[in-house]
This record gives sequence, C-alpha cells and structure tokens, in this order.
Amino acid sequence: MAEALQQLILDTLHAHGSIKDTRTLVLPGQAEAAASHDAQVTILGALNSLASRDMITYTTHETFSHVLTPEGAQIALEGSHEARVWAALPAKGEGDPVSPAELKKKVGDEAAKVGQGRAFKNGWVAKEGSGLVKLAPSIQDKTQLDMREVDSTGTLKEGEKALADLRKRKLIVQRKGQWFTVHKGPSFSTSIAKPETDLTVESLTSGAWKTATFKKYNFEADGIPTEGGALHPLLKVREEIRNIFLEMGFTEMPTSSFVESGFWCFDSLFVPQQHPAREVQDTFYLSDPSVSLPPPKAYYERVSKVHEHGGYGSTGYRAPWSDAETRKLLLRTHTTASSAAMLYKLAARCRGEADSDSDDHTDLAHEHGEVHAEASGGVGSTKSGSMHPGDDDGFRPAKLFSIDRVFRNETMDATHLAEFHQVEGVVADKDITLGDLLGFMKVFFQKLGLENLRFKPAYNPYTEPSMEIFAFHPQLKKWVEIGNSGMFRPEMLEPMGFPKDVRVLGWGLGLERPTMIRYGITNIRTLVGHKVSIEGVEKSPAVRF
Ligand code: PHE
Repeated sequence: MAEALQQLILDTLHAHGSIKDTRTLVLPGQAEAAASHDAQVTILGALNSLASRDMITYTTHETFSHVLTPEGAQIALEGSHEARVWAALPAKGEGDPVSPAELKKKVGDEAAKVGQGRAFKNGWVAKEGSGLVKLAPSIQDKTQLDMREVDSTGTLKEGEKALADLRKRKLIVQRKGQWFTVHKGPSFSTSIAKPETDLTVESLTSGAWKTATFKKYNFEADGIPTEGGALHPLLKVREEIRNIFLEMGFTEMPTSSFVESGFWCFDSLFVPQQHPAREVQDTFYLSDPSVSLPPPKAYYERVSKVHEHGGYGSTGYRAPWSDAETRKLLLRTHTTASSAAMLYKLAARCRGEADSDSDDHTDLAHEHGEVHAEASGGVGSTKSGSMHPGDDDGFRPAKLFSIDRVFRNETMDATHLAEFHQVEGVVADKDITLGDLLGFMKVFFQKLGLENLRFKPAYNPYTEPSMEIFAFHPQLKKWVEIGNSGMFRPEMLEPMGFPKDVRVLGWGLGLERPTMIRYGITNIRTLVGHKVSIEGVEKSPAVRF
C-alpha cells in the first residue's frame, strides 16, 4: 500500500504537473476520493517519505472536518431512532397497533423516547387507540444519510447550518484536519528506486554512486544501542570509591583470600578467643578442609603470648589459649583480616626480614613517607621521612585500602545478606594521631558527598580509641551509622614487629548501604542475588559522588 500510494502520487504529478488538493486523490484500492481524515494521514506518510528523497515538495493546509460520535456511528449503521420506531410499527389497518411499552421492548428505551417525537413530527407515524401505527408507506431516513455522508466526506453538501444542527444533537464533532498541495521536487522521477544508505566498495569501484540516490542522513535518529558488558551498580560504586582512595594516594591491598584462618581474622587482631563474634552463629566455619596451615612461627608465639599473658605494656586477656581455635578455617568476617596480613608484611623490614616477600605487594611502603591527609594540617610534615641516616629501623609508611566481600552468619532481611562488601582504609606512619584519623575520614567522606560527620566512642578489640561514624542522611533526615574506625592497638602492632612509635589507623564501611541510597534501592535482594534484573544492571546510571 505504501509503495502503491507513493507511485500514485508520482504518476499523478507526472500527468498533471502538480496535485492541488490531496483530497481529490483516489487511493489505490478505493472507489472514492480520499477526503477522510484517515486517508490524509496515510497520504502524509507517503509525502514525507518522498520529500525526504527530494522527489516532491508539499505544503500543508488546515481544515476542519467532522467525524461521527459513537451515537452518530450507530445511526449510520442501524438508522435513526425515528426510522427504527417507524420500522417497528405495522402499517395502518394491517396489524395491531404497538403499545408504548411494546415499542420500548422492540427498539430500546432511548430510541423509543427520542424517536417517537421526531417520527410524529415527520408525519411518519400516527396514534391508533392506545398504540402506534405507520402513517407513511415509505420514508427517507435523512439523518442516516447525513451520517453516512459525514463519515465518508467529513462534511455535508447541505452546508454549515445542517452541520451545526447535527453537532447540537451530538451526532458529529468537529475535528482539525489537513490536506496538502504537492509539487515535483528537484529529484523528481516516476520510479521509486530504493535509496542507498551506504557508500560501498562496489558502488565506488563501479561508479554506480554517481547516479545513485542516497537516503538523507538522519542526525536526529537514536543510535543502535551497543551491546556489551555492564558494571553492576555495586561495582560502579566500588570503582568510584577506589578512585577516591587512589586520588588520596592509597594503594590497593590484595583481598582475594575469602577463606582465612581464625589466626588472621581474629587472633592477629587481638580479638580474644572467647569473643562472641567467633561463635558459629556469627561466623561461617569450613568443614572441609577445616584446619589451616600454621601461621609464621615466631609471630604466632608473640601473638599467643600477648593474648594469654600480656606484654608491650598490656596485661593481655589472661585466658587459656587454644591452638585449635587459631587454625580453624572460616569465611572472613571483615577485610581487616587482609589488612592484618598486609601490615604483618609491611613490618617485615622492621623484623629484619627485608625482601622476604619481594614476590608480591612490595610497593606498599611509599618511597617518600608522606601519608598525612590534607585536612590534618600535616602538609609537608613527613614524620618518617625526616629521620637521620643510620637510624633506619626498616619502617616505611603506607596508605592502604581494600574493597571486597566479607561473610557473616546473619539473619537475612531486606537490608542484610550473609555476604556483603567492606571498604577499608588503613594508614601506617610514625606518631600519627586520632587527629590524623579524623582528617583522613573527613577528606574521604567529603569526596563521597558526606560533609557532615559525627563520631561516637565505640569498642573494637583491635582499636583504641574506636569510633563509630555517623553521617546525616538528607532523605531520611536523620543521622545514620556509616562506619567504624580506630587506632590499632599496640597489642596488635608490636607483635608484628613494628617499632613502638609506629601508629596505624583504620576505618571501614559497607559498600551496599551507600549503593542502595545512591540508586534508591530499598530491598537488598534487588541489588544482590538471583532477583537482580540484568536490564536494570545494564541501564543503571554511572555514579559520581
Ligand atoms: N573491621 C571493622 C568492621 O568490620 C571496621 C574497622 C576497620 C574498624 C579498621 C577499625 C579499623 O566494622
């Protein structure tokens, strides 16, 4: 149809030079001229297609045409109410007159009510006794004819007064319409060759491009959506947070060991062996294999000693030490397990074991020793960098971070799963203070868009002092806990071999909560797990804090 119509337009232009009024066109397969609204809409499609190839030009004219209301359409089909009343009656003297009640049954309430009056007025029916009979032997249903005329031409030859009457009777309504005048365009031809969309090697070598018609480039068109991998929202947020740490000069720690031993997850962090976090209801233990390789011997001795008997100025826990407890394999409950392992490596030079682990992560210590946050006022104050030659105790400052998965045997609900991600920052340098920790966190969270922070004293077995971090949630309009932080204890650092003046500070936060806030997600199951929609992942916007 579309092609035939385009051909008709071209042929008509070829024959007559122009088309003054597209309402005079007789469309392919139709008997009458295309005066209706729908026909003009179809014609417009064909005109646009031809105009885009410069084969024609056209101008638009506005008209007001009429269309039938549902009631008008019913009359066009079944006749007017008065005609239906007339048709339902017997001719005078040829049968029993029809009572008003019966008439209602035959033609319906509405037609009986409206139709009777008009039928009387037209002289079509008459009263006989208490009923009605036909008076006219035949009638002409003008309303039906009018409806059919409006339906096919959009107007009435009779003129505006008749149209106004039908509008008042709510049988027709006015509708804005269009018709067109068409002229030949610069590329006019009577044959519609399918336009080329591409310059091809063949058309260039054969020279066919010289005479080919090209489809106009549509700069407004949407491109084809590219298919490819998409980062999960959690990974997008992870990427942003990673960039923040990198901007601040931090180095990423290796965190691939989801399985850790009780030693690295708890003991090295001075978490007492009787601590509730180590119970099975909080921690997933492995059954096969269930026992880890032994930790470094000398270090293990120092750790067990500080737990059981104290040392480094501490009284220790004075509770019996269990070797089995340290060897239990578990899914790490926090990334601080990885931080502990990295700190132990960082202290290798201080233990006189320099280069012992040159195979991996050797770049942890920054060459120049400046680890202070901008906000801590420590610009240029390279505490470790200012030591005298000769008194090198092997220590190199470090700023480390990690963002990875941890596991806890928790009751799952809308905001908790048994696995989630932790973000952790750790800074090691000589004589740094709680002020440095506050400074680092201020800069870090500011880059995450959180200006307003509050700290509350808290307890961690491995840090003293410890602080919970709260931020003001602008949507919830309240302070929410976003993380945990503190200065690592000497009971943890000194057994590793760090000199007494080395301080290590750290802070940690979850990745899921900021992601959920960022993407307006209220149920964690739509973020993680089998209910995540791939389409949602593909369409999730990039994150900028
Ligand atoms: N490990 C702590 C937690 O799981 C976070 C933390 C990291 C606290 C480093 C202090 C120092 O919440």
